[in-house]
Amino acid sequence: MSEHVKTEVTDGILVLTLQRPDKKNALTGAMYDSLSEGLERAETDHSIKVVLFQGDGDSFTAGNDLADFASQARGKNSEESSAFRFIENLGKATKPLIAAVQGNAVGIGTTMLLHCDLVYLADNARLMTPFVNLALVPEAASSWLLPARIGHVRAYQMFALGEPMDAATALACGLANAVVPPTDLRQKAMAAAVTLTKRPAGSLSATKALMREHSRIAARMAEESELFKQRLRTREANEAFTAFAERRQPDFSKLSS
Ligand code: COA
Repeated sequence: MSEHVKTEVTDGILVLTLQRPDKKNALTGAMYDSLSEGLERAETDHSIKVVLFQGDGDSFTAGNDLADFASQARGKNSEESSAFRFIENLGKATKPLIAAVQGNAVGIGTTMLLHCDLVYLADNARLMTPFVNLALVPEAASSWLLPARIGHVRAYQMFALGEPMDAATALACGLANAVVPPTDLRQKAMAAAVTLTKRPAGSLSATKALMREHSRIAARMAEESELFKQRLRTREANEAFTAFAERRQPDFSKLSS
């Protein structure tokens, strides 16, 4: 259980709060494991009706901890399997998932939203999937789900140019239900969660099952994971992680793949 993820159950709502604000809630292996434990518990605990993700501080999450990526690139695998365990749990979730997102939502911080059933954004939210900047590939089935949701060219712009999408644009292209002032964000998401706890649970899970192609999601995740693991160990990825640690722009010009 990570000290950086708070797990609370109140009136049928499991709230998972990222609490590493000094690092913009960047996700370590232990944090992924805590999130997975929450999702796995929600699947088996009948008292839990809804899962709500939120983050303390000015960012929802800066995505995977880049120091962990750098150590995975050197062949240490444990953090990597924690991330993939979380991604798999997202893809298998049968209960409603809700996200309350403020500030930066980078990498998995955005791709996990594709697995959430309701998404609320603060007006300062910035969604980013800079996988190509990091010499990686998209994950969490986002290579399929993101273009399916927002169209190929907008998805490619996010993946390959790494440009942030602001909250108003995200709302307009179907990535979110509402944009609210940051001070109203948690209340808005919690109100939706409370409403869902009053809906018939069997109907909610049957509806979600009809709306999500779980087997296809799992197949795409497996395909992406294979490539992602290969990419993590490339010289390009090493240059990207080193550049972040050294606070400089990466220089890929002299590298092959
Ligand atoms: N992994 C590890 N540490 C991270 C991090 C990450 N993904 N993102 C931010 N941090 C750390 C910074 O190193 C910094 O730590 P320090 O204070 O000890 O130097 C601290 O969080 C604050 O980050 P900073 O970059 O100064 O904040 P910012 O407001 O200028 O920018 C971001 C915020 C999220 C835009 C920027 O930090 C960023 O781009 N992070 C990397 C995101 C990323 O590529 N994630 C992987 C996606 S697959």
